[in-house]
Amino acid sequence: MNLIVGVSAGIAIYKVVDLVRKFIKRGDSVKVVMTNHATKFISPELFKEISQNEVMTDIFENEETAAHIKIVDWCDAMIIAPATANIIGKIACGIADDSLSTVAIALNRPLIIAPAMNTHMYLNPAMQNNLKILESRGIKIIEPDSGELACGTSGIGRLPEPDEIILNADEFLKNFRKNSELDGKKIIVTAGGTREPIDPVRFIGNHSSGKMGHAIANALSNRGAEVVLITSSDLEVSKNIRVIKIETAEQMRQKILSEFENSSAVIMSAAVADYRVKNFSEQKIKKFDDNLTLELVKNPDILFELGQLKKNQILIGFAAETQDFERNAREKLIRKNLDMIVANDVTAEGAGFGVDTNIVTLITKDNLKRYPIMKKSEVAELIADYASKTLGTLK
Ligand code: CTP
Repeated sequence: MNLIVGVSAGIAIYKVVDLVRKFIKRGDSVKVVMTNHATKFISPELFKEISQNEVMTDIFENEETAAHIKIVDWCDAMIIAPATANIIGKIACGIADDSLSTVAIALNRPLIIAPAMNTHMYLNPAMQNNLKILESRGIKIIEPDSGELACGTSGIGRLPEPDEIILNADEFLKNFRKNSELDGKKIIVTAGGTREPIDPVRFIGNHSSGKMGHAIANALSNRGAEVVLITSSDLEVSKNIRVIKIETAEQMRQKILSEFENSSAVIMSAAVADYRVKNFSEQKIKKFDDNLTLELVKNPDILFELGQLKKNQILIGFAAETQDFERNAREKLIRKNLDMIVANDVTAEGAGFGVDTNIVTLITKDNLKRYPIMKKSEVAELIADYASKTLGTLK
């Protein structure tokens, strides 16, 4: 693999010398990019010797034009270790003012970030928020270890040992399969809860955050699928995904139908409102009476409609239930003509709306598999595995 190793100025930089050596030893090619401050800790000459490649330090001193684009085109993936609070903040905000941040922003391949810093810096809300932003864009964060820190204190913030970084990186990168079954396949993913307007300032909605659907979109895009994400959520996703923002069930339906014909699969993780207000009020409803009655009418069942229209597409639905969830989910699988349904009991702790984990059962016509509590990103990989396998055999 061709790897860019980005190095910023943390004391843990000494471990990265060994990290680069290990990558080289097992046959990877490495090009190192350093921040100016990092060169104060370790000379670029050392990384040049170990990697057998020129080290990029100051982008403006580099004689080659567009060196940041050339290196990005060359690589299969990039890993930044140690990543300081500064470089993490820059990447989260899109700042490109030195070689490392410029390369990171030009990158269109997988990025892995291994933060290392003092505990208070690591736990700073701005820092944690930046990590969340990066994760939502599909970037892998390797969580730091706890223990003694260079500043003399003890806590979370240590850069993991090189072997552990390599293990984490390999695990993550195995999902970025070139020439996978999903390469170039168009897959529609829906996410978030729809909002059905009552008047110009109010709507009927639900607690769906969009996290599950966005994680699925990232997982499929990482495997080379051409993902169209139809969502009500503002969460960020990988820049390779085409995002279509919608609010209502009817808008979601229109967008899906216009994308459906040449698609290979639809994954409906959105919480579509079953009803909308019959008479939308053009003016804000004033509180004249003690009681207010809103008449609701049924929304179209989008997935049911797709089940009738489908030709070669595979359809995956979700069933968020509060009781008897496996039986209810199986009934939906059959009624809506789906290939798979992801069932979950939204009342279980660690499952359902808003949280970062889920507890799912995957049900097909002739199979049922229960899974333990998992990160939503892991559930997304399971769904991507199913899509790969099924679309692979359809070829
Ligand atoms: N769904 C849909 N259109 C709707 C309602 C739901 O496409 N109007 C999709 C959801 O995105 C989900 C699946 O159908 O993938 C099941 O949704 P769910 O709300 O669990 O089921 P419903 O069919 O609405 O049944 P009920 O609410 O009665 O349980």
